[in-house]
Amino acid sequence: MIVCVCNRLNDTKIRGAIAQGADSADNVYAYCNVRKNCGRCQETIEKMLDGSAQGRHLLVAAE
Ligand code: FES
Repeated sequence: MIVCVCNRLNDTKIRGAIAQGADSADNVYAYCNVRKNCGRCQETIEKMLDGSAQGRHLLVAAE
């Protein structure tokens, strides 16, 4: 699914950036070698980051 239309970033690329350590929307853009243009995707990327953080929290809690 395309998340960022301006840069043709799909959810797989964004999840890959998050897995590599991107912890903000700006970092996701940097990991993907793009720049924020219109910014409409930022909220979705931040929700993906929040979901990832919750996932890490659950992993830590399970240890
Ligand atoms: S949709 Fe991502 S910068 Fe425009």
